[in-house]
Amino acid sequence: EDPEPQAAFDATIARRDRIEPRDWMPDAYRKTLVRQIAQHAHSEIIGMQPEGAWIGSAPSLRRKAILLAKVQDEAGHGLYLYAACETLGVSRAELTDLLLAGRQKYSSIFNYPTPSYADVGTIGWLVDGAAICNQVPLCRTSYGPYGRAMIRICKEESFHQRQGYELLMTMMRGTEAQRAMVQESVNRFWWPVLMMFGPPDVQSPNSARSMAWGIKRNSNDELRQKFVDMTVPQADALGVTLPDPDLRWNEERGQHDFGEPDWEEFAAVVRGDGPCNAQRLRHRQAAHDDGAWVREAATAFAARAGAR
Ligand code: 3HC
Repeated sequence: EDPEPQAAFDATIARRDRIEPRDWMPDAYRKTLVRQIAQHAHSEIIGMQPEGAWIGSAPSLRRKAILLAKVQDEAGHGLYLYAACETLGVSRAELTDLLLAGRQKYSSIFNYPTPSYADVGTIGWLVDGAAICNQVPLCRTSYGPYGRAMIRICKEESFHQRQGYELLMTMMRGTEAQRAMVQESVNRFWWPVLMMFGPPDVQSPNSARSMAWGIKRNSNDELRQKFVDMTVPQADALGVTLPDPDLRWNEERGQHDFGEPDWEEFAAVVRGDGPCNAQRLRHRQAAHDDGAWVREAATAFAARAGAR
């Protein structure tokens, strides 16, 4: 194989520059990008379900409008990411089939239920907050279309995080019952949110190579730590406690020590045995089936236009 393209690829990665769709790239680089970008896109689309369930029951027109805007943003994030993935030679139809067949993943966090309205605020504050920690470094990922999609997505994630935090702050200034609702929601979401960052680095089969290729700029544990350090003062300001008895400031490290997530639970949720996995895929399958007529009409229209 002509060493030239590999050398050019290595030089681009070494100077932390961008690989573009028309550049030569190792098959394994392409493959792991399709894996990660598809998972990211699927997460955005499946992620519309947990909080979307509250659109019809939002307590005010203002809260409904904000939630509607956020859920629509997530759909847009999914479309940007499917478009970025298509530059690697796969189609979003293929990726949707792989998701529905259980052969591609989406983020574990969306397999948890949202029984309380406070969950809408907690998802904005903690889930989108974690997503920001994970996605800001991805703005500098080595694959061009992925990094550029991240820049727009991160701007919108900041709105998502702020609206969630403001919703919770409003409830914390409300009645005792509202404060209890917020605390109960935070108790349920805290540990699953820490698992969003992936397994510990020592159990992460993809990290070493993804970091060598500049796909991943920080390790799972680094970003998890950054998220905890960022979130503790926000929890203090909100007046909620985080459900981790081992959470404490470590002056020496200049970071917080915190407990170990339940990696058995994480593995079970990723395997498909989480509280809502079956429901989320059933819902996605039904939406896909309901939308078949639109895809058929668009295809027929394009064929007729092409024939003309
Ligand atoms: N949920 C489901 N699967 C997960 C996971 C999670 N939270 N974390 C890791 N995994 C999977 C990985 O996909 C991998 O399996 P695979 O090889 O079959 O794909 C396995 O567990 C081992 O994990 P690794 O750390 O080796 O895998 P990665 O190097 O891919 O790192 C990641 C995992 C940090 C999630 C990385 O894939 C990533 O940064 N992805 C893009 C960002 C993303 O998906 N963010 C979360 C969802 S988006 C979101 O929150 C939307 C917001 O608007 C609310």
